Amino acid sequence: MAKLVLYLLTLLHADLYGPAYSAGTFGGTARLYNHLESGFSAKRSHYHPEEKQRVRGYIRDFFSSLPECDAVLWEDEYVVEWGTDKHYDGVNFVYIIRGSENGTDNDRFTMASAHYDSVRGSPGVNDDGSAMSALLESTRALCSLQKCQRKKTTVIIAFDWEEQGLIGSEEFIDRLRTQGLLQTTKALDEQLEGVINMDTIMNWDDQDQSQTLPDGMNVLFPELYSEIKADNFKGNFLFICARQDDKKLAEKFVKVWNSLPQNDTMKVRLGVMPFSGLPSSLNKIEFEMYSHFMRSDHYNFWNYTGTSASLDQGLKGLFLTDTAEFRGSMVQCYHKECDNLSSVTDDKLRFLDHITDTLARFLVEHATDLPHAECVAPSGFYTRILD
Ligand SMILES: *[C@@H]1O[C@H](CO)[C@@H](O)[C@H](O)[C@H]1NC(C)=O
Ligand SMILES: *[C@@H]1O[C@H](CO)[C@@H](O)[C@H](O)[C@H]1NC(C)=O
Ligand SMILES: *[C@@H]1O[C@H](CO)[C@@H](O)[C@H](O)[C@H]1NC(C)=O
Ligand SMILES: *[C@@H]1O[C@H](CO)[C@@H](O)[C@H](O)[C@H]1NC(C)=O
Repeated sequence: MAKLVLYLLTLLHADLYGPAYSAGTFGGTARLYNHLESGFSAKRSHYHPEEKQRVRGYIRDFFSSLPECDAVLWEDEYVVEWGTDKHYDGVNFVYIIRGSENGTDNDRFTMASAHYDSVRGSPGVNDDGSAMSALLESTRALCSLQKCQRKKTTVIIAFDWEEQGLIGSEEFIDRLRTQGLLQTTKALDEQLEGVINMDTIMNWDDQDQSQTLPDGMNVLFPELYSEIKADNFKGNFLFICARQDDKKLAEKFVKVWNSLPQNDTMKVRLGVMPFSGLPSSLNKIEFEMYSHFMRSDHYNFWNYTGTSASLDQGLKGLFLTDTAEFRGSMVQCYHKECDNLSSVTDDKLRFLDHITDTLARFLVEHATDLPHAECVAPSGFYTRILD
């Protein structure tokens, strides 16, 4: 998640380390932990070019290991000018899974995204290794559909260069605008159901007072604030942030969450901001008020304008996060050395697994339009997503 410098934050102190992870008991958490350990536990900023290359290889290999998916992996390369006279490479991975309505006006795209870069001083296991792991496992679930005919297109995106000001997603959005990536004759906002952007999502914390909040939350989201307060400020929820335009999409996601076997200690909370359309049309004071909710790659979707001003005033998208430096151990570990494997616990992995299941099922529902009963996953793999 990109750092916010606009705000002075009042943070309550919390220093909460769980026990170190021990071997998982069910498939989902073990796979997720494996991604964290093998893919996303070393610093991978532009100061660590070798590790960045390695993690790119990891992502590429993962997508290549899903041949049954009949999808296209597009490695979108660009040059980033950063610092004085410095040029770096940037690579977004865009995995396009098309269905039978590919190329027709009936097609509707759903996208899901996370970023794979880290800041210089942090291994970024939670930020954003957690969401990368959820993204890869959800993709595997979607690709494992057999009987279930995919109809709609799903686009899975691993962004580079999020931490230096959302550069990777800006590049991607430029491609959407100028290259008609999705082959549609319609306005993009009609064709795109929305993007589910996840940033820093696994830090579940069930202790009282583990959740701190930015100033003004009680004014911005009075209901949400009361709910969190009534729960003694436990950091035990996934936060979903949306604008008015994204409300339906957010409600669908929550519905899918609620349709999975529930563990009452793992919650989802929705914050719908009162504005619609482009955040860049907010005035300065409003913008600062909402700035915490613009801190990741979904921002560039919300801020999308088409080639003609009358088309496409913002694309739909959700921001999923555990609230990063506002919760539990991340108060201390956000963008620091200790956002590493030692902070991973079984509980956090279970939380991440629940998010992964929800995302996978959400994407499957959008791609298929079929009732779940007709969708059967291969035996032994994520059967609970589809049963
Ligand atoms: C999707 O449609 C485009 C253009 O209509 C076509 O070029 C492409 O091969 C199609 N892809 C698949 C996987 O059907
Ligand atoms: C948002 O979009 C506007 C219009 O395209 C652009 O001028 C502005 O730079 C964008 N804001 C950010 C922070 O990228
Ligand atoms: C995680 O960071 C802490 C604090 O810097 C350090 O003590 C611990 O050894 C690190 N764990 C791993 C697995 O690198
Ligand atoms: C719910 O999840 C928490 C955290 O993983 C776990 O400690 C607890 O045992 C779970 N409860 C049930 C009923 O499964």
